[in-house]
Amino acid sequence: MPPLLKSVATFSVIAFLTACGGSGTEAETQSAPAATTPTTEAAPPPVAAPVSAPAGEPSAEFASLPAPYNTADYARGKRTFKLCVSCHLTAEGAGSLVGPNLHGLFGREVGSMEGFVFSDALINADFIWEPSHLDEWLANPRAFLPGNRMSFAGVRKPEDRLALIAYLMLETGYTAPATEDVPAP
Ligand code: HEC
Repeated sequence: MPPLLKSVATFSVIAFLTACGGSGTEAETQSAPAATTPTTEAAPPPVAAPVSAPAGEPSAEFASLPAPYNTADYARGKRTFKLCVSCHLTAEGAGSLVGPNLHGLFGREVGSMEGFVFSDALINADFIWEPSHLDEWLANPRAFLPGNRMSFAGVRKPEDRLALIAYLMLETGYTAPATEDVPAP
């Protein structure tokens, strides 16, 4: 290839790559810590559901939470939690359904809640639930702890998980580690 043509070709490749690299990343920049993309869930509904205001409006309910959870949308979190209510209660002392009661989840050893029979996958896992674990677990439970018994495909959208985790912090009595209690909303 003549040198001129060659450099033109190289230039177009670079321009092409740059154009591609620039698109599609904006939505991800301020959202939750990146998690593995779940692949198991069914495709999203074809009709774009008119959700509440576009992302970016912080909800007063979450104002006391640590970043980035204080930027999440409360309505979105509450709505996403509907995926869990058939199996999980969050009120203290309310007992367990198919899944364990989630009160006091944050700061608790995985698979340790008394009175609930966990699978070996959770019993043998060794970590304390923090928001980052929950983000991975909810993105793809099967991949995060293979062999677990939670029949749930996952929450695909990072912004849904961010809001859900923020909502769970409020509902399960989360208190910030190492500092004083988060004031009740
Ligand atoms: C079909 C029932 C079902 C649904 C729906 C479900 N879960 Fe679960 N969940 C379970 C079961 C069962 C376990 C225990 C799994 C095991 O022992 O392997 C569990 C475990 C958990 C744990 C670990 C608790 C601990 O103490 O270690 C968390 C956290 C959790 N679920 C959160 C959620 C959230 C949040 C949702 C909604 C997005 C959800 N689950 C949806 C059944 C469910």
